[in-house]
Amino acid sequence: MTGTPAPAQRFAPGFAPAIAWDVERIRGDFPILSRQVYDQPLTYLDNAASAQKPSSVIEAVGNCYRQEYANVHRGIHFLSEHASAAYEAVRRQVQEYIHASSPREIVFVRGTTEAINLVAQSYGRPRLGPWDEILITEMEHHSNIVPWQMLCEQTGARLLYVPIDDRGELVREEYERLLGPCTRLVAVTHVSNALGTVNDIRWLVERAHANGTPVLVDGAQAIPHMPIDVTRLDCDFYAFSAHKFFGPTGIGILYGKERHLENMPPWEGGGNMIRAVTMAKAVYNESPHRFEAGTPHIAGVMGLGAAIRYMESLDPVALQAHEAELLQHASAFLREIPGVRLVGTAERKCSLLSFTVDGIHPHDLGTVLDQEGIAIRAGHHCSMPVMERFRIPATARASFAFYNTIEEAGRLADALRKAVRLLS
Ligand code: ALA
Repeated sequence: MTGTPAPAQRFAPGFAPAIAWDVERIRGDFPILSRQVYDQPLTYLDNAASAQKPSSVIEAVGNCYRQEYANVHRGIHFLSEHASAAYEAVRRQVQEYIHASSPREIVFVRGTTEAINLVAQSYGRPRLGPWDEILITEMEHHSNIVPWQMLCEQTGARLLYVPIDDRGELVREEYERLLGPCTRLVAVTHVSNALGTVNDIRWLVERAHANGTPVLVDGAQAIPHMPIDVTRLDCDFYAFSAHKFFGPTGIGILYGKERHLENMPPWEGGGNMIRAVTMAKAVYNESPHRFEAGTPHIAGVMGLGAAIRYMESLDPVALQAHEAELLQHASAFLREIPGVRLVGTAERKCSLLSFTVDGIHPHDLGTVLDQEGIAIRAGHHCSMPVMERFRIPATARASFAFYNTIEEAGRLADALRKAVRLLS
């Protein structure tokens, strides 16, 4: 084994830096990235679990509570009217960011999980019965499996899974075969959190629509990495969380085509989702307010607005090129290490590496890497069917964001070699 080159000059064989991406300047926007853990520089490679926040997002949340806070859609006083206007302005920001046709298509929810449960219960439950089928895939996160399993228990519908191949790609022929006269909904992830696979949503939607079937897309792992255009994708629902998108926890988005949302009953009952309530009954508000019962996460919405502004300040082409470089380098570095096996080698991948090392449990790898200041996730990643498919109990997962560096990919590889030496 040759010695490890100095990190700053280190590039995987055959790769040279292709783009101007001022990663050091960008890192300066994220205060936590300059902290140390165990006297080592923090190497944060757990972005698929949750991403770090730029100062502007932290400031927006603080400023909301310091200067602008009041409940929304309820008060007639200055602060409440100001907060309501700011809250609705973020709805329009989201609409524009994901290219929805109208702010009425944007529902504020707690996160991706709530968005999918909302669709299962509000869209699915009134429509489905025995003989109906929901089609999902073997690469889904539990949040895009369990709500459908629950719905099937409630309605008698059947849940079918599109298989994935050894590279972690959907088997297209099987998808086309499984789409049938009884398929009432397709629910599919845009990017797999366990494999990194980027699915061809345009094609999946086209095939489903040709079968008369609407499509829900779990976009939680996609939106931090690529521009999203729901109009171009033509999906019926798109769900994502702010916290993976450099925004706050506890807030997320359900996009739904207006004609679907308008015909869906409320998901939860309470304040704000009604027009009028008598002792006998309630008349519901229009969508999206019909789906936003109770006081929402107002500060979270302000933080999401700041996250969108931050993302809009970056060049998306350069961002994607930088992440592609990170993936190429990290993959090449890890492939050099004896015993390392990458799980998920799809042709289109985002900057996420799931891997195993012969004879070493991923949790042990994670513990050794942690001591080096490197944060990764080890386990089943809330995607146990993926583990079942690859006949493994767990993987180690390094997930990169646009603020990570090639030097950090090198640090991961060096620490991994050390872990292999220690644990083999
Ligand atoms: N869904 C998150 C992950 O993949 C928590 O880690």
